[in-house]
Amino acid sequence: MKAVVLFKPTKAEEIQIKDVEIPKIKKDWVLIRVKAFGLNHSEKILREFEIENDYIKKPIIPGIECVGIIEDSLDDDFKVGDKVISLMGGLGRSFDGSYAQYCLAPKFHTFKININMPFEELGAMPETYYTAWGSLFDCLDLKKDDTLLIRGATCALGYASIQIAKALGCRVVATTHKEDKMKLLNDVDEIILDNGVLSGKVNVVNKVLDLVGAKSLVDTLKLVDKKGIVCNTGILGGVYALNNFDPIKDIPNGVYLTGFYSNSPTQKDVDMIMSFIDKNKLKPKIGASFKFENIKDALMCQDKKLVNGKIVVTMKG
Ligand SMILES: NC(=O)c1ccc[n+]([C@@H]2O[C@H](COP(=O)([O-])OP(=O)(O)OC[C@H]3O[C@@H](n4cnc5c(N)ncnc54)[C@H](OP(=O)(O)O)[C@@H]3O)[C@@H](O)[C@H]2O)c1
Repeated sequence: MKAVVLFKPTKAEEIQIKDVEIPKIKKDWVLIRVKAFGLNHSEKILREFEIENDYIKKPIIPGIECVGIIEDSLDDDFKVGDKVISLMGGLGRSFDGSYAQYCLAPKFHTFKININMPFEELGAMPETYYTAWGSLFDCLDLKKDDTLLIRGATCALGYASIQIAKALGCRVVATTHKEDKMKLLNDVDEIILDNGVLSGKVNVVNKVLDLVGAKSLVDTLKLVDKKGIVCNTGILGGVYALNNFDPIKDIPNGVYLTGFYSNSPTQKDVDMIMSFIDKNKLKPKIGASFKFENIKDALMCQDKKLVNGKIVVTMKG
């Protein structure tokens, strides 16, 4: 099969498609014929430097998510021809991932879907919508009367979170760090240019989804009302941990801080998300779509930040 294989930190310009063996089926795993997959910020981090860590399998086929068709399974839960998504659980990190024609995925991280949507659109969904859903509902306990601020909203996860929150009926405030990107946020109720400090400059809200992360978290915590919740899900700011974080002083009295990690999806989550998407007629914001043979171009666009919305890669046939 054709696949992208990484051995070491690799620039998008150096990406090559190689011929490798189709993975062999084994118990508790399913072989998926990949139809489409989205690109993720975390895959860029893996490709650029995280690959050097011992916990990343090498060589590795990257890709933490895909949509496809079951090609082979030793398990009665999955039948050849089932339409599935697979995400996380070590995909594209501890074992080979989805930048390939076939992907051997753990059955516990593979979920059946029966929504009627083209593979290209489905490819934009698994990781992004699962993360948005989990952050908004499991962590922020989002309700329709909430005012939600999304910090770092001009990313695939930000756009999906806006859609879900607006469909629920929330007031949504969104920030971007680039003035020319404010126009991309026209679905929200208020757009704010974020120069790194928002406290004291914006009205307090009761829920915040922080996608910029540790770089802005202490400032973000000052933006919420008592009993308000901040969920840190993103690391767009490029700072991954806070060594001098002082929980007693940095978390205001009565403010709740949580974080979301998209590593535990379930079939129940996937069914709820798909049914919400179907009921509200949501369509993912696809920034650009590429054929697999042109994946190098897709990754170059990702690196150069040329695309707004999810970058999707589709397979032939
Ligand atoms: N916790 C989890 O389990 C989980 C799951 C999925 C994603 N995430 C995280 O969520 C974030 C979004 O992921 P994604 O895959 O949706 O990203 P993405 O679509 O690849 O978007 C990346 C884009 O975000 C933009 N961005 C917006 N605000 C930014 C800021 N303040 N600093 C730097 N860049 C900014 C950048 O473009 P401009 O600079 O041109 O605006 C960049 O091109 C990432 O940090 C990712 O690691 C976390």
